[in-house]
Parts: sequence; structure tokens; C-alpha cells
Amino acid sequence: MKVINVGIIGVSGYTGLELVKMLINHPIFTLTYCANTEGETTLSVLHPSLMGVCDLSVDKVDLDRAAAECALVFLALPHKTAMNTAKGLLDRGVKVVDLSADYRLSAENYEAFYCEHEDIDNLSHAIYSIPELHGNIAKGARLIANPGCHVTASLMALTPFLDHIDLTQPIFIDSKTGVSGAGKSPSAAVHYVSVNDNINCYNIIKHRHATEIEQHASALCSHDVKVTFVPSLVPMTRGMLACVYATLKTSCDPLVMMESFYADKAFVRVRTAPPHTKMTSGTNFADVYATRHGNALVSMCAIDNLMRGASSQALVNANLMMGLDEGLGIPKIAYVP
Ligand SMILES: NC(=O)c1ccc[n+]([C@@H]2O[C@H](COP(=O)([O-])OP(=O)(O)OC[C@H]3O[C@@H](n4cnc5c(N)ncnc54)[C@H](OP(=O)(O)O)[C@@H]3O)[C@@H](O)[C@H]2O)c1
Repeated sequence: MKVINVGIIGVSGYTGLELVKMLINHPIFTLTYCANTEGETTLSVLHPSLMGVCDLSVDKVDLDRAAAECALVFLALPHKTAMNTAKGLLDRGVKVVDLSADYRLSAENYEAFYCEHEDIDNLSHAIYSIPELHGNIAKGARLIANPGCHVTASLMALTPFLDHIDLTQPIFIDSKTGVSGAGKSPSAAVHYVSVNDNINCYNIIKHRHATEIEQHASALCSHDVKVTFVPSLVPMTRGMLACVYATLKTSCDPLVMMESFYADKAFVRVRTAPPHTKMTSGTNFADVYATRHGNALVSMCAIDNLMRGASSQALVNANLMMGLDEGLGIPKIAYVP
């Protein structure tokens, strides 16, 4: 099969590095273009772990060059920065997988949490895709809105039960994340002394991912789904565990439900005991488990926020966009111990 040239803009960040590591071994995609704010450097300078492995040049963003060299570009940029870059690439006929939130929400929801949307036209064409929940909709897409990390874990724990829970009762989601979820920019909140030997909830109730969960859970079951979302920061580099608590209205066996809902899904493992985040570290796996206590449902999903929560899910979507097998170049072996 003919190779497909791809690029990464925002390559010096955490999700950018994860994309590089997978694309180096991808049988069809070839990484030919990398960019960040300043450019004039190389990958192994930006990411010393790549010394002797990959030393592509990293340039300032130049959309004409990106379009000349790539059929598809991954945007690993902060929110609000991505949409202008995406528009320029789409106008030049390049396919785009955006890892930011810029195309994940309706204009109304986006503007309530971020800023005025500067690319409404493409927003209406963006495809929001968690393959196990949305099927093969990424196939042939021009623009992928890659879901958020907390949202991916929460929806994978919640969706199998949307027809079995009482949506008039509160749904609580408690989602714990490792520090890399905040990206590489230092801040007081992610300072070692703030994070180590500590756990804290942040942005409870009003976190931007709550709206993304509600919008896409409602779309998946055609009912209005409301959640109370409580994210926490825990002292680990990578990993995410979302736990959903809801009221069941049927006598279903939650684990049997999970097994049938995710049957034949290569990247979902239904566990018979609560999963550990480390079991998914460095992979695209979503490890799920569910049980009930009376009519109280406890359902959970463990992922790697940088991989299933971002870069590997983005690569699965890119594989599907280009009509390739979803699993091409996707890692399955976790960083354990
Ligand atoms: N981290 C996660 O777990 C996670 C999970 C899901 C989704 N995401 C989303 O994925 C995106 C990237 O996240 P990240 O964690 O990789 O962030 P990050 O570590 O902060 O990296 C951001 C990257 O964007 C580049 N950049 C910033 N402004 C730019 C500009 N104006 N022009 C060109 N490049 C620019 C930075 O380059 P410089 O080095 O030159 O500044 C850096 O390479 C974000 O939207 C984030 O919300 C992240």
C-alpha cells in the first residue's frame, strides 16, 4: 500500500511526542512535517528521548509547506489556537485531526466555555469520534474533533448503561487524572511540591468536560443527559480513572452488559475486577468494569490520558479517515511495572 505523508503541528508538547513515537513505527503513515511556535530545531533536541531514533527538523508553522508535504495533519495545539490552523489546512485540502476542544462542542456550548468560535463553517462538518461508541463515522472525514480525555473515559463507562439508568436521577462522575493532563507548561497547580503526596479536586461541577460529556451522551441516547462531574488531580505522570455512579431502572447485570456492549472491540478490555490505570499506560486500551449495589450502578474506565485520551485515539481516527485498519501502528503493550 502507498505510504501516506502526515504532519504534526504542536510537536514539542506531550501529545505531540506520543504521536511521533507511534508514527515512527506506522506501516503506512510517514511523518514528513513537524512544527511548533519557534521552529528551527529538531525532534531529538526537543525530545532528548528520541536521540538516535528520530531527528526530523521542526519548523515554524507554515501551512503552505504542510499542505505541500502532507495529506493529513495532527494538531496537538492548545484550545483556541487550533481552529485558525485547522481552517487554513482544510482550505488547502489537507485532512485534519484536532486534539484540542475547538471542534468538539456546538458553537453555543463552545462559546460558553472557551471564546468566540472563529471557524463556524468547519465546526458543523467536524466528526466527533470514539470508534467503539460512534462506529466507523471517521471514515472519509476531512476534520476529526478528537474527544477529551476525561470525556473519553467517562463516556466509555456511562454509555453501555444509558438505556438502563434512570436519567431523572443524578449521575455523578468522579474522574482522577495524572499531571500530564495539563500539558507541559509549568504552573503552581502542577508544581511537584503542590502535587506530590496530595490529591485534590479541581473545577468541580463547572469543568468544561462536563458539557462535552452531556452533549455527546445525549446525542448517543437521544435523551437529555445531565451529569455532576468532579475531576481530581493525583500525583502520577499519566493515567486516568473515571467512575460513574447512577441509579439503575432495570435488573441488568452490569458486567454482562459491559461484555455484550464491548464484545469484539479490540481496544476495550472488560475486567472482572476494578482496573488499574497502569494496566493501560502507553496503550490505546480502555479497561472497564461495572457492578451494582441494589439499584446503584458503579461503572468505571481506566485509560492513559495521553494515549486513549488523546494521541492513540487520534491515530485510530486517522487510520479510519484514510480507510486503513483501525489498529495500524497502535501500541498494545503497557509500561508495566
Ligand atoms: N495532555 C493530555 O492528556 C491531553 C488529553 C486530551 C487532549 N489534550 C489536548 O491536546 C492539545 C495538546 O495538549 P498537550 O498536552 O500536548 O499540550 P502541551 O504539552 O502544552 O503542548 C502544546 C504544544 O502546542 C504548541 N503551541 C502552542 N501555541 C502554539 C502556536 N501558537 N503555534 C504553534 N505551536 C504552538 C507548543 O509549542 P511550543 O513548545 O513552541 O510552545 C507545544 O508543542 C491541547 O489542546 C489539549 O487540551 C491533551
